[in-house]
Amino acid sequence: MAKLERLVYGSTATGHTDNLLNMATILAESGRNNARDGLTGALAAHEGRFIQVIEGSSDAIDALLRRLATDPRHKDIVIFGRDLVEQRLFGDWVMANARITPGLKSVLDGMMSQQAPSADHVVTLMQDAVVQMDDGGDAER
Ligand SMILES: Cc1cc2nc3c(=O)[nH]c(=O)nc-3n(C[C@H](O)[C@H](O)[C@H](O)COP(=O)(O)O)c2cc1C
Repeated sequence: MAKLERLVYGSTATGHTDNLLNMATILAESGRNNARDGLTGALAAHEGRFIQVIEGSSDAIDALLRRLATDPRHKDIVIFGRDLVEQRLFGDWVMANARITPGLKSVLDGMMSQQAPSADHVVTLMQDAVVQMDDGGDAER
């Protein structure tokens, strides 16, 4: 079985991240491709920046990084961390929309003001952002 890796990066959006259609378009493309490629993860938009966690095989992550590098919707990709991991933390999501609530915002502001934010801290925050959305946003229950 291929080894599992987790990549965490940040980038600068070239368009408006508060435009729901922009985000929905990226999430829809990601969902379609990631299901095909065995990738899972979460994407957050925050203050004009994207923050993304991606989990999957090394080859699938490399291929996605090549596409991301030429995507005009963002620039200045900075990799916070890329590590071999034992298990997926976002296995339920082909690409979750991580919602940065006011409570998480101040924590994220602090992290992003650092030169090299800790990938582990970013991952933990992204998990909180996805879970909070799941707790509150499911009208079916
Ligand atoms: C912030 C951001 C995150 C993205 N995340 C993913 C992703 O997780 N998976 C993916 O396939 N494409 C993602 N994309 C889109 C890719 O850059 C690229 O446009 C897409 O994979 C090309 O898909 P296509 O070959 O089906 O046209 C993302 C784009 C942006 C701007």
